[in-house]
Amino acid sequence: MKIAHSIQETRGQIKQWKKYGYSVGFVPTMGYLHEGHLSLVKKSTDENDKTVVSIFVNPAQFAPSEDFSSYPRNFDADADMCGKTGADLIFNPSAEEMYPDNSCTFVDMDKVKKELCGKSRPAHFRGVCTVVNKLFNIVTPDRAYFGQKDAQQLAVIKRMVRDLDIDVEIIGCPIIREPDGLAKSSRNAYLSPAERKAARIVSKAVFEGELLVKSGERRAEKIIAAMRDIIASEPMVEIDYVEITDSESIEKITVLQGGILAAAAVFIGKTRLIDNFMCEV
Ligand code: PAJ
Repeated sequence: MKIAHSIQETRGQIKQWKKYGYSVGFVPTMGYLHEGHLSLVKKSTDENDKTVVSIFVNPAQFAPSEDFSSYPRNFDADADMCGKTGADLIFNPSAEEMYPDNSCTFVDMDKVKKELCGKSRPAHFRGVCTVVNKLFNIVTPDRAYFGQKDAQQLAVIKRMVRDLDIDVEIIGCPIIREPDGLAKSSRNAYLSPAERKAARIVSKAVFEGELLVKSGERRAEKIIAAMRDIIASEPMVEIDYVEITDSESIEKITVLQGGILAAAAVFIGKTRLIDNFMCEV
């Protein structure tokens, strides 16, 4: 497995692979990898001749008050896991490499980002769209893999690719969870033992919400209320939002129909965690 820190070296390697007709799969990440990320890498190595993983904590998607500087990093462990999972190239640029001094062009969208995390984190998806667009231009992948853990991000990226005619297939992958249900996340590392215990309540609310839908409930307010009640039973957890939206437009709905996303974001101490379920009704 190769490690490249520059755009030029990454492009050179990928151009060489493409000359041989190899297909390229791509998994963008911010590192501190866990089984959630590795499930995407595994799917990419299964479906493509070559797999590129990017590891870049993107400053543009963090607000000044957020956790950019404390975001967990462990490049050596990440590289080891990528190698063992069959990745062929890690692209690990510096912030200067990605955003040179006079960089002033951004990719943004009017819809899809308005609700859920876009509401709580107003500049977040502009940063995500810009960096993912740049990464697509550097890696030029045939397929790119994103987790449903970040369901709104997946919808935003799908819409960006459609609207800007980017020649890549976006593949959504299921949420990987801890044995007790907590969705795996690099940010789980921030949780104290007591907070980690309390965090279970989020997946519990998600599972109960999904059961309600499966048992025939179609009124969004009933499902949201049930999920909120479960989360509120845990005093250490503060709700940021619990909402139900269409799974593609990410617009709120009152009656469940078609593809739906039920999503929750909470704070446990200073740590912000998200979880969701998606289904077709
Ligand atoms: P990061 O949070 O590192 O996540 C990288 C990818 O791993 C995303 O597609 C995310 O949805 C997926 N992922 C994280 N936890 C998962 C889990 N438990 N199960 C399945 N997939 C999971 O998302 C980002 O980085 C950034 O915003 C990025 C797209 C790299 C742009 O900077």
